[in-house]
Amino acid sequence: MPPRTLRSWLFVPGDSERKQEKALASAADAVILDLEDSVAPEQLPAARQRVSELLGSVGEHRRGPQLWVRVNAASSGLLGEDLAAVFARAAPAGIVVPKVSGAADIVLVARQLSRLETRLGLEPGAARLLVIATETPAGVLSLAQYPQALGGLRRLRERVAGLTWGAEDLGTALGALAARDAAGALTFTFQLARSHCLLAAAALGAQAIDGVCTDFRDGTRLQHELDAARRDGFSGKLAIHPDQIAAINAAFAPTEAEREHARRVVAAFATAPAAGVVSLDGRMIDRPHLLQAQRILAAAQNAEGS
Ligand code: COA
Ligand code: MG
Repeated sequence: MPPRTLRSWLFVPGDSERKQEKALASAADAVILDLEDSVAPEQLPAARQRVSELLGSVGEHRRGPQLWVRVNAASSGLLGEDLAAVFARAAPAGIVVPKVSGAADIVLVARQLSRLETRLGLEPGAARLLVIATETPAGVLSLAQYPQALGGLRRLRERVAGLTWGAEDLGTALGALAARDAAGALTFTFQLARSHCLLAAAALGAQAIDGVCTDFRDGTRLQHELDAARRDGFSGKLAIHPDQIAAINAAFAPTEAEREHARRVVAAFATAPAAGVVSLDGRMIDRPHLLQAQRILAAAQNAEGS
């Protein structure tokens, strides 16, 4: 069975028991227990302990969101201890890797995970990775090299569940005053980061996950970002507030009209199995349309199954 597509990813600070309870009860596909930017440095030991206990206390076959953990960056000096604490009682579904500056950072984290999996007798590659790929300028510039650097490493490629992008840390690194212009559109540099993330994810066969909408009270803005994300090929989005989850899940579930069209495309090819191209409603339909239709139907099934 192919891995499930995860539409909504809800961040929750690693040290907040109250928010974690709420997050676990939410309809998010994945909850990201954060040990990085939302945790004050002096709270990190307590957050590690809390995350470890939470992972240890929830049953493996529980329904509800998958549990992921965002660790500190490869360059932080904190990663080893983060991972040791996270895996101390039970393994998470995956690890979110921030401030990645190049493919080497991903290789480094994957190696540490492989070692842990071997030591703990876990299935190799079981813990997947979500890479936050655009938080540093070097990270954005290196995205174009991902297919070459990672594409040949099958094990590692399979471990990478998705790539995501973010404007906040990148803006700080650049000294940019804003990521959007007066009309609300992303400025060129941030569009570049977003598009590179989308392209690299597709090249690796991983999910492209849209970054957070930090204005969590602005439903119109969120919907606008979701419409653009879905249109452009993202298959999920990060969230920071439970109120954002319903809109995200709905946005990445194909509409009834899309499903119906996809069923008709599949049917048109089924009636002409030897044909590479058929016509439907006066339009040419060829193999890429069939693949897209199959993807829509898989996404529909995924949305129903969760
Ligand atoms: N997960 C679970 N529950 C959350 C939540 C989250 N991410 N964010 C808010 N809640 C809960 C609050 O605890 C509150 O419940 P309560 O009144 O029963 O305590 C309820 O939802 C409403 O919260 P609200 O008052 O609207 O927001 P807030 O001002 O308390 O919190 C943030 C705003 C941004 C601080 C909070 O949403 C948050 O911590 N988000 C995650 C931040 C994060 O992890 N960032 C790192 C990635 S960028
Ligand atoms: Mg950050």
